[in-house]
Amino acid sequence: MTDKFDTTENYVARATDKIMPLYAIKDAVLERGKDCHVWDTEGRKYLDCIAGIAVVSVGHCNERMIAAAKDQMEKIWMCSGSYQTEPKIKAAEILTDNCCGDQIFFTNSGAEAVEGALKLARKWAHQNKGEDVKEIIAFEDSFHGRTYGAVTCTYKSVKQPEFGPYLPGVHHAKFNDLESVKSFINDKTCAILVEPVQGEGGVVPATQEFMTGLRDLCDEKNILLISDEIQAGMGRLGKLYAHAAYDYEPDITCIAKGMGGGFPIGAFLAKKEIASVFTYGDHGTTYGGNALGTRIVYEVVDQIRQPEFLQNVVDMGDYMMEGLNKLKTDTNSIEEVRGKGLMIGVDTVYDISKLLATLQDNGLLATQAGAKSLRITPPLIMGKAEADEALDKIGHVIRKGVM
Ligand SMILES: Cc1ncc(COP(=O)(O)O)c(C=O)c1O
Repeated sequence: MTDKFDTTENYVARATDKIMPLYAIKDAVLERGKDCHVWDTEGRKYLDCIAGIAVVSVGHCNERMIAAAKDQMEKIWMCSGSYQTEPKIKAAEILTDNCCGDQIFFTNSGAEAVEGALKLARKWAHQNKGEDVKEIIAFEDSFHGRTYGAVTCTYKSVKQPEFGPYLPGVHHAKFNDLESVKSFINDKTCAILVEPVQGEGGVVPATQEFMTGLRDLCDEKNILLISDEIQAGMGRLGKLYAHAAYDYEPDITCIAKGMGGGFPIGAFLAKKEIASVFTYGDHGTTYGGNALGTRIVYEVVDQIRQPEFLQNVVDMGDYMMEGLNKLKTDTNSIEEVRGKGLMIGVDTVYDISKLLATLQDNGLLATQAGAKSLRITPPLIMGKAEADEALDKIGHVIRKGVM
C-alpha cells in the first residue's frame, strides 16, 4: 500500500458512516482501470467482469474517449437544450443512422430514458387510440430503473408496497410467454416494455420466438413496442442495438450504459411518426445531450459499430459460453449457463455472495443477477487472453469450492 491511501478497512468504515446503506460495500477500493482490468488502492489487480454493470464498453480509460473528452473540455461542456452543438448532432446522427429509430432524445441515465419513452408512448396513444389508452405491459423479473415510472414497470415494485402509490395501469406478464402477454392486452393497452435480455432479473435472454411474437402482437393490436436495451444494447449482444441481434424493429428504443462507456448518459429513440407527437415543452432535461457527454458518445459508438469490434463480442461470448459449459460438464457445481454475446449468467450450487467474494479474492470482479446468478459483463474489448483469464479464475474457484 502506498502512503497516499487510507487502508481498505478505514475506507469501508468511512463509506459506511457517510454513504446511505443501499449497496453492500465491497472490501476493495478501486483506484484506476485500464482496458479490462482495475486496480485497488492496495495495488491488487482484478479482471473486471462487471464493467460498472455493462457500462465500460470500450474498456477503462479508452484512449479515444480520453482524447475527445480533453479536447471537448477546453471547448464547451454545456449549453441549454435549445442550442445545438456539433457533438450532440454527430452523436444523434451516428445513433439514428444505425437504428430503425429516426429521432433521439438524450437523457442522463437509463431510468430517464425509460421515463421519456413511457411519456412518448402515452402521448402517442392519447392522440392515436384514445384519451384513456394508458396501460403498459412490462414483465415479471424485469428491471427498468429507479424513478417512479421506471420503477413501477420494474417487477420488484410489486414486492415493495412501502414506496407506493406507483403509476397506475402497469401490468407484469410472464417473460418468454406470449399467452401471458395476450391475457393482459385490452383496448386500454398503450405499450409493451421489454428487455430483450433481462439483466438484473438473472441474465435471461428472450427467445427469438418471443421477440418476433411480441412484434407481431403489437402490429396486430396497434400497440407500441418499447425495447429497453439499456443493459443489453450498444454492442453487448454482438450488434450495436440489441433489437438487431433479435431482428425486430421496436417503436421506441431505450439505451444508456455502454453508449457512454462510463460517462453517465442515456437516450431514447423513436420512429419519426411516433416522435412527432412530442411538441415544445412536452419533455426536457437540463443536462441531457450536453456537449461533453455527446462528444464521448460519438467516440464510443464509432468504435462499437465497427464490424470487427462486434464480431469480437460474438466470438468472445461463444468462447466464454463454451468454456463455462465445459466447466459445467467437468464439475457438479454449475447448474446452468445462459446468455447472449458478452452478457452471461451462471447458476451454481454456491451461495452467490460467498462466490463473488471468493472470485474477488482470486482477482476477478463479477456481480449478482436475480436471486442467485453470477453475472459476467466484461468490457466488450475482452480478447482471448482476458477470456482465458476469466475462465481460469472462475474454474479455479468453482473446482476448489466456496466456503
Ligand atoms: C434494463 C435496464 N433498464 C434501465 C436501467 C436503469 O438505468 P440507470 O441505472 O442508468 O438509471 C438499468 C440499469 O441497470 C437496466 O439494466
